[in-house]
Amino acid sequence: MIILITGASSGIGKQLAIDYLDAGHKVYCCGRNQHALKQVEKQFPDLVTILNFEVNSLIDCKRQLESLELLDLAILNAGTCEYIDAINFDAELFSRVVRVNLEGTANCLQYLIPKIKRGGSLALMGSSSSFVPLPRAEAYGASKAAIEYLARTLRISLKSANINVTYIAPGFVKTPLTDRNDFPMPMLVDVNFASTHIRKELKKRTWLIHFPRNFTWLLKIVRVLPTRVQHYLIAKTLAY
Ligand SMILES: NC(=O)c1ccc[n+]([C@@H]2O[C@H](COP(=O)([O-])OP(=O)(O)OC[C@H]3O[C@@H](n4cnc5c(N)ncnc54)[C@H](OP(=O)(O)O)[C@@H]3O)[C@@H](O)[C@H]2O)c1
Repeated sequence: MIILITGASSGIGKQLAIDYLDAGHKVYCCGRNQHALKQVEKQFPDLVTILNFEVNSLIDCKRQLESLELLDLAILNAGTCEYIDAINFDAELFSRVVRVNLEGTANCLQYLIPKIKRGGSLALMGSSSSFVPLPRAEAYGASKAAIEYLARTLRISLKSANINVTYIAPGFVKTPLTDRNDFPMPMLVDVNFASTHIRKELKKRTWLIHFPRNFTWLLKIVRVLPTRVQHYLIAKTLAY
């Protein structure tokens, strides 16, 4: 397969890239950190193409993505997380997170959708934080809830082009992004678990990939409870 992964320089995206490369697929590895991308390229010189760009620059996206060959799979995974102090709401912080997670995804979509083969797949990296409101995740959760909506609509809109769209909603995965968290992360899994699960489920062209199931099913159950109960449970268990 010919695959493109944004955020392939670190964490989940890097592990996905390595595992697909290990299986002999050709991977366009995207990110800003040239040094980290070169480390991946060194291991698989014949299969890696580095695309070094900022997802929140439409001009950069155009320059890097417009003339690509046709892809079997694009995984739009690049993302960031910052937490909000709601009492002192910081609109700049909110905007920083939304610009990368949501607008960055949209920038890539503009140039990548025409590059996905008929019969190919597009996966958008969200988060299980889009299932329920989590404390301090006003910016991150809102950006991921918007990604969930975006993926839902694209799944319908791109059906006629025979492009499968999948929404990926991980729980906590140990990466440099979560290493910054200062609170306990229930049912934390590692990047190998995440990559194995995502790759297995992407093969099935499913709508939703969520893991670890014991954590994400809990959130999905909480999601359908009455709002008052939902908020009570979240405040009781996740008041960090
Ligand atoms: N870890 C978790 O528990 C978890 C849970 C749910 C969802 N997710 C989602 O999974 C995705 C990957 O997260 P991770 O945990 O693997 O984090 P990570 O290790 O920090 O990796 C983030 C990746 O995104 C890229 N990136 C960030 N900002 C970018 C920008 N402005 N332009 C281009 N690339 C950018 C980074 O590349 P450069 O630094 O090279 O730019 C890096 O490769 C994110 O969308 C995150 O929201 C993670």
